[in-house]
Amino acid sequence: MPPRPPLPSGIGLGLRAKLLPAIERGEADGEVAFLEVSPENHIHRGGGLPARFSQVAERFAISTHGLTMSLGGHEPFDLEYVAELKRFLDRYSAPGQWHSDHLCFSGVDGSAFHDLLPVPFTEVCARRVAARVREAQDRLERPMLVENISYYLELGASDFDEPEFITQVLERADCGLLLDVNNIHVNALNHGVDPYDWLSRIPLARVRQLHVAGPDRWDDTLWVDTHGSPVRDEVKALMAWVIERIGPRPVLLERDKSIPPLAELLAEVRALDEVYQEAVARWRAGQVAAARPSDARARVEGSVGARV
Ligand SMILES: [Fe+2]
Repeated sequence: MPPRPPLPSGIGLGLRAKLLPAIERGEADGEVAFLEVSPENHIHRGGGLPARFSQVAERFAISTHGLTMSLGGHEPFDLEYVAELKRFLDRYSAPGQWHSDHLCFSGVDGSAFHDLLPVPFTEVCARRVAARVREAQDRLERPMLVENISYYLELGASDFDEPEFITQVLERADCGLLLDVNNIHVNALNHGVDPYDWLSRIPLARVRQLHVAGPDRWDDTLWVDTHGSPVRDEVKALMAWVIERIGPRPVLLERDKSIPPLAELLAEVRALDEVYQEAVARWRAGQVAAARPSDARARVEGSVGARV
């Protein structure tokens, strides 16, 4: 396989088995900035899938996003799994490219829950999660991003609210954030949090990548992060708010339920890209405007110096 390209900014798409035939036919070529894959769906997988993925990976930049590291868990990492994961990352992503997983716990006694469960927002937990993120970075020999999750209950007494807790983890681990703006939206709907206040209280400079997706409403009482519907306008607005403040980043469209034909998802990628490009343009205009005062100051200082 040729050297892996670094992950570009722009709108990418989560690779799902149902989408693979159309992607193999070339229907996504030139349409997405990158594909994101969960290594757990490919490691130790029999049949033809590994070879098919390997061929697709020759044509796209690949972002890797894990599901089972249980960064908020209490048990030591499964070192056999971590070694397999490292081999997968070394093969499919660029040297030094980050790997992401969730800020949650997702297993106990060696069994995976197949769900992303919240951790308590305490100082003890922040220290433990940060130490595990550092260990993961050391073992994988690449940076880790942690992803903020959606959650449906708050666990007991907290030392912090979620933005403070995430900030504690990021700074103690010195790692990046995979900012899922749909998860912020779902939590805001379910828990009554102001998403823009939430965003204004995390270190945006640590955001390396974003996720967007669509939730479903369950029983008229709860919004559930199903990744089963188109991205809502509120989520696009959150994505744009972040991009116009931090500049271009890889942004992933996640779809895991009621997956439509690829052509329909690519239309959604193009619509997202329009919003994204407008936000990037506003960020560029802000950069130019921010540069102007110092340019003017330099001209004044230059003219003063000339007089002397
Ligand atoms: Fe996500």
